[in-house]
Parts: sequence; structure tokens; C-alpha cells
Amino acid sequence: MDIVVSGIRSTGNLHLGNYFGAVKNFIKMQQENNCYFFIADLHSLTTHPTPQDLHQSVKQVLVEYLACGIDPENSTVYIQSDVPEISQLYLFLNMNAYLGELERVTSFKDKVRTQPNNVNAGLLTYPVLMAADIIIHKALKVPVGKDQEQHLEMTRNFAQRFNHLYQTEYFPLPTSFNFGENLVKVPGLDGAGKMSKSNGEQTAIFLRDDADSIRKKMKKAVTDAGPTDINQVKPEPVQNLFDLLKLVGTEDMIQHFENAYNNCSIRYGDFKMAIADQMIQFVEPIRQRILDIDNDHDYLAKVAKMGAEKARESASKTIKEVNEIIGIRKFY
Ligand code: TRP
Repeated sequence: MDIVVSGIRSTGNLHLGNYFGAVKNFIKMQQENNCYFFIADLHSLTTHPTPQDLHQSVKQVLVEYLACGIDPENSTVYIQSDVPEISQLYLFLNMNAYLGELERVTSFKDKVRTQPNNVNAGLLTYPVLMAADIIIHKALKVPVGKDQEQHLEMTRNFAQRFNHLYQTEYFPLPTSFNFGENLVKVPGLDGAGKMSKSNGEQTAIFLRDDADSIRKKMKKAVTDAGPTDINQVKPEPVQNLFDLLKLVGTEDMIQHFENAYNNCSIRYGDFKMAIADQMIQFVEPIRQRILDIDNDHDYLAKVAKMGAEKARESASKTIKEVNEIIGIRKFY
């Protein structure tokens, strides 16, 4: 079985973008691979959350992973900070990560632009920590969205550089993974770009949203004045709504609204409520499981402990071998 690693930063509730972009792939992969899925709480420290917020958001992601169907008996589900070996490997990898290459990373440059008052070293070395996450388990496949491809390329660079420096083939070179054509873009409700919390809570549908808030958000979703010509090309906001319907709707429904758009009889109010209803049908069982698991502290504790133990088993083996390769040897 191939080793798979992926993580999601603990920045709060998961939305449909996280689900269809990442978690759905995790679930599909967990049978046929040896999967490690973790909550990247150390990565989220770059934005200095309060202690309460940090703990709360780690819990939310853990609960939501489980509610979506990640099976902790099958996959190793853990919290990054529970595996100190990752931080240790991060330190080693930092010795061979260069300022120039780190400064050229797109996600870093974006942060420099958007938060010029908080350009900390953790942000600069974010790709090094991510590389440590991945190669600590000697992973081959990393299911991530397109926005993470550059980070994966850096992971390969760091792994290869380590191998070269110590003349070993110790770390395999991991690649980003998706189910080919199934790679979906999940748009937001604001008419442009992908679903993302940073565009405002109102532009994303969260797995925790109840029927009422889903309808309210969908009602406000951006459209246009409506088609005036037969078979006219859809503008981005309208295409986005069709893309969302494709994720949650039935074939019949999609066809129905395609026809209505093409013959200019579509009523956006009905269209949006139909999408909302399908979203509610999709989200509701997950939401129910979230509410159940939320209150089951013993279960969460059990899962986190079991995950930490399994992850540390693999991670400590790597660190032991890496120490040996580097020449960190005991005198006692
Ligand atoms: N950088 C990823 C994101 O923002 C999260 C992440 C951290 C990750 N470490 C990882 C993803 C290791 C895959 C593997 O989405």
C-alpha cells in the first residue's frame, strides 16, 4: 500500500470547498492506501490565534473529519502538535532551506502583500514544515488542491537535497495527487473565485450550516439580470451556481435548469432554492454527526490518542534513522 499524507490547517469550520476539494478524496483513498490525515495546528500559529480559538478550531476540524467519514480505525488521524518528531525534522530541514527560494514562494509573497505587519519566520518556512509533515512518514502521494502544488515541489527539493547531501536514497519524492478528471473547482457565492472563508462567512456553505442559514446564503448568492438570448454563454456568477448544483444535484435537475437557462425561462429564485435544498440534503446528515461527535469528548480523546500513537510510531522511526544518517549519535 502507498503511503498518503495530507492535512488541513485548523482555522475553523470546514466548508463545501474543503469537502469536495480535499476531504472527499481522503475518504476515497483510505481503503487502498496507508493514510495519515492530520490537523495542522502548528501551521495555524503563523496568524497568532488565542489559546481558546486554537483549541476550538483543532476540535472543529477533528470532529468534522470524523463526521465526513474519515475512519480512524482505517487511517491514522492525528494532530500535528501531538507528534514532536515533525518539529524535529522541520529543524533539520531548515538547515538546507535557503532564503532566496523561500522568499520566492507564491503563498509567502501573497502574505507579504496582504499582511505586511506580520511577515514572521514561521510564514517564511511554512513550506519546510509542510515538507516535514509529508516526508516524516516517507509519503508518496499527497492529496491536495492545485494551490498546494508549489509546496509539493519544494517538498521534493528538500527531500532530494537531504538525500544528496548524505548520499542516500532515504526519502522518496512525493507528488500531489488527485483523482484526475474528478478534480473540482468549488466556487463561492460571491460570483468570483473559489469558496474560501477569507471572502466572508456569507460566501461559503459550511458543513455545520443548518437549513435556514443555507437558504439565506443561497438567496444572496450573486447572479445577473438573466439570459436574454437563446443558448447564450453563462457569465461567471451563473456558471458558478451551475458548478455548485453539479456537486450536489441530480442529473435531471441539472438538465432541467440547463434547459431553462438556454430557453431564457430560468427563474434564479427557484434555481437558487433548488440548489439550497440539495445542499441541505447533502449537509444535513453530516451536520447531525457533527453535533453528535461534538459532545462526545471520550470518543474524541480516544481517536486523538490512538492517532498520535500510530503517527509517532512511524515518525520516531524516521527521526531515529535521520539522526543516524546526519551523525547525531549517542555517547551513552
Ligand atoms: N498547506 C496546506 C493548506 O493550506 C495544509 C498542509 C500543511 C498540508 N501540511 C500539509 C497539506 C502536508 C498536505 C500535506 O491547505
